Amino acid sequence: MLRPMPATLPTRTQNAAEVTAFYDAHRTTRSYQADPDGSPLPLPADHLEAILHAAQRAPTDATAQLYSLVRLTRPEVRARMVTLTTNAHIATASEAFVVCADVRRVARVLEVAGQTPGHWPAIAVHFGIGDAVMAGTNLLTAAEMLGYQGCWIGGVMNGLDGIIDLLQLPPGVLPFAALTIGTSAEDTPHRPRVPRPLVIHTDTYHNGTDEEIRNAVAVMNPIAARQGQPGDWARLLGAYFAVGGSMEGREPRLEAALKRQGMWSGEG
Ligand SMILES: Cc1cc2nc3c(=O)[nH]c(=O)nc-3n(C[C@H](O)[C@H](O)[C@H](O)COP(=O)(O)O)c2cc1C
Repeated sequence: MLRPMPATLPTRTQNAAEVTAFYDAHRTTRSYQADPDGSPLPLPADHLEAILHAAQRAPTDATAQLYSLVRLTRPEVRARMVTLTTNAHIATASEAFVVCADVRRVARVLEVAGQTPGHWPAIAVHFGIGDAVMAGTNLLTAAEMLGYQGCWIGGVMNGLDGIIDLLQLPPGVLPFAALTIGTSAEDTPHRPRVPRPLVIHTDTYHNGTDEEIRNAVAVMNPIAARQGQPGDWARLLGAYFAVGGSMEGREPRLEAALKRQGMWSGEG
């Protein structure tokens, strides 16, 4: 039986200014309060319970919940993940997860029910990553509601093969990113976003003019500032996405992982 619940709850009555202020307070943080020896400060049990609950309340495609979170608790697993992702804060965060697309569990449900899982690797990536992101976003937002901050870690792409080994991820399970949560120990700047007309389109897609793009770069430049030096967002994007950038290095690793996990729909 599905549990009837009222559609309007007190938690759904914040006004627009409060909602805007809440999302304005979002900061990715990479330094967390920890024990003097560097070991993580645990979250109170009810806070952990609330953020895990939030993750599982995410909407999901086709009722399937095509994701899994692997909670990293053992120091040696955290340490290995630091190396594999090149993100040191995995060691000290109160909580650290690897957020995965997961089409294995739904295949198991079908098998146990005597049905044969179909072949849909592109669909697996599309909806699996979507479900994983929605669950992770719910988790992070819930943590922020409780006063914590966090960091998504796409650095899992740097060590995909080793992460699949370390976490013993079976075929059908693909890491999307790691996600750390904790009490911030840094003074984090409020980071800008691309101006709205380039992001929120009305009825039809609006291709930005060169001037709009240049203006967006100017707005975004502070996000690339380091140690008092003015930022250059286009240069930062180039280091990721231009010819010879790090994404070209990640591409074959992701392709190999998709093949290894049985989620590759291309040729070869
Ligand atoms: C999918 C994803 C992957 C990310 N990967 C990393 C990462 O590997 N390391 C890191 O320090 N920050 C990472 N970030 C954090 C972004 O750098 C950050 O969200 C962005 O600069 C905007 O800053 P803000 O969240 O403070 O507004 C990632 C964020 C997302 C959503």
